[in-house]
Amino acid sequence: MCGIVAYVGPKEAYPVILKGLKRLEYRGYDSSGVALLNSGLKVYKKKGKVAELEDSLMGKDLHANIGIGHTRWATHGEPCDRNAHPHSSSNGKLAMIHNGIIENYSQLKNELMKKGYQFTSDTDTEVLLKFIEDIQQNNHCTLEEAVRIALKRVVGAYVIVLIDEDNPDTLIAARKGSPLVIGIGKGEHFLASDASPIIEYTKEVVYVNDYELAIIRPDELILKNLGNEKITPFITKLDMELAAIEKGGYDHFMLKEIFEQPDTIFDCLRGRLDASLGTITMAGVQNNIDQIKNANRIIIIACGTSWHAGLLAEYIFEELCRIPVEVEYASEFRYRNPIVRPGDVIIAVSQSGETADTLVAIEKAKEQGAMIFGVVNVVGSSIARISNAGAYTHAGPEIGVASTKAFTAQLVVLTLIALKVAHEKGSIDQKRFIHLLNELHDIPEKVRTTLQTAEQVKTLAEKYKDAKDFLYLGRGYNFPIALEGALKLKEISYIHAEGYPAAEMKHGPIALVDETLPVVFVATKDSYHEKIVSNIQEIKARKGKVIAVVTEGDDTITAMADDVIAVPEADEILAPILSVIPLQLLAYYIGIAKDLDVDKPRNLAKSVTVE
Ligand code: F6R
Repeated sequence: MCGIVAYVGPKEAYPVILKGLKRLEYRGYDSSGVALLNSGLKVYKKKGKVAELEDSLMGKDLHANIGIGHTRWATHGEPCDRNAHPHSSSNGKLAMIHNGIIENYSQLKNELMKKGYQFTSDTDTEVLLKFIEDIQQNNHCTLEEAVRIALKRVVGAYVIVLIDEDNPDTLIAARKGSPLVIGIGKGEHFLASDASPIIEYTKEVVYVNDYELAIIRPDELILKNLGNEKITPFITKLDMELAAIEKGGYDHFMLKEIFEQPDTIFDCLRGRLDASLGTITMAGVQNNIDQIKNANRIIIIACGTSWHAGLLAEYIFEELCRIPVEVEYASEFRYRNPIVRPGDVIIAVSQSGETADTLVAIEKAKEQGAMIFGVVNVVGSSIARISNAGAYTHAGPEIGVASTKAFTAQLVVLTLIALKVAHEKGSIDQKRFIHLLNELHDIPEKVRTTLQTAEQVKTLAEKYKDAKDFLYLGRGYNFPIALEGALKLKEISYIHAEGYPAAEMKHGPIALVDETLPVVFVATKDSYHEKIVSNIQEIKARKGKVIAVVTEGDDTITAMADDVIAVPEADEILAPILSVIPLQLLAYYIGIAKDLDVDKPRNLAKSVTVE
């Protein structure tokens, strides 16, 4: 949440920062701003998307070799110019950008107001900056020292970057709980919330850890802890190409990412699955196999779409591994007093690897002795680093705010883990194991075939775009897909949608059904097929409009439903990877039909680094 970019070096800072902000806009897009230091510090900010900031700066002299930039997802204070970052100190010599939340900001603000400080914004960021300024003035110390003292009193999560008129070649940055990557160029440094603004300049990066402070000059990067001791920066090589973060001819990132799924799933299987040899190679699982296969319990912790992947994994793990599984919303888990025992294995599922609720929940479980296994997409992210072991989903950068390809990659990785554990444990018979490996091997091609439904789904989108509500129903393995389909529609088209277990419908939601309500059934061929056919009849009897996602050749449902989208036949454990695709497309095309910004839906942000 919120994107930060900064640059120091021989290049013009503004174009580097502006391009970086556009890449990070998926993290928040309420307002944006830059601070540039040439002869004097200049701060420019604007409500709205980065393009609006860019327009407002046309024709201005923006020459500078050092600067900071920010794109905001509002927490404290409405989105407006005044609350946009960077914020300025009272003496105008410092400017700061911030990603995160300062929880004790009102206490600090009261103290500062008593000293006569005035505030021009409603943000916690301005409070922290003025707190730093106050410490520097009272202690007659360097900015670095003042930041260190201030951060010892701060409660909350942050990445901050400061620029200082008195030290025109130096940026100061610090992190706790929110992400910060520093790119190391030749005589220059780049700072950003993730690597996407950096990769076209350098592949050498340092991921800053919690409680670390960085002093960055063109030729120098000094890392320290809050005790003022130097730390040797650990340089990592980025494994990412520029093309992966560009639209590549598609109108939107969301559509590109939906269509990338045959490849991302293939990448996710590559080097892991060998169907001909009947093997699954996953070092993270193999190295911890005894602990995982003998786990008392697996607790899956996640949020949003990743939680839906976790829910499906519960069905798969219990079926194949016969280990009890619980699926927890990270935000609930972290604030209850959950019972976690040393024999428990936690699987944290996260695309970004930075979701604050998930991060804190697993920290809490780790403290209680659980082993943490991360299923994460972003390499080097906080959740990946805090996990004891893990498996990356290898879906590549996901820029569209609504998760699509990361979800199917999560399903694939979780299925691979379940299969491997079941095989090692002996809870799956060899014939079924080999059958599922062969089925997994074929999934990328079946996803490709499923994508051919796009034109048909587009037509359906036109037909149903004006509906006020949607109901999504599924049973068994397809129930989490009903939830995911409903979430996608809400996010992208702003149409109210609910996902429900199909049989649970008669315990309440059936009251909603009339001839105006589209009901999407996720009804591929599985052990529940006859049951879901009855549920469809119950809806038809009440004049509901039925859109059904079915297996090719399903004449029974085709004869009953108003509209049918057919996907290739697959084992019931894997069919959800196919059945979700028309639902992603439906959300996308309804969003387009309603002329909405599908890549940046209102109020959302890609990486939710606040609780
Ligand atoms: C929905 C979506 C969100 C995320 C959720 C968790 O399309 O993207 O619901 O799934 O915010 O994010 P990660 O997976 O990054 O932890």
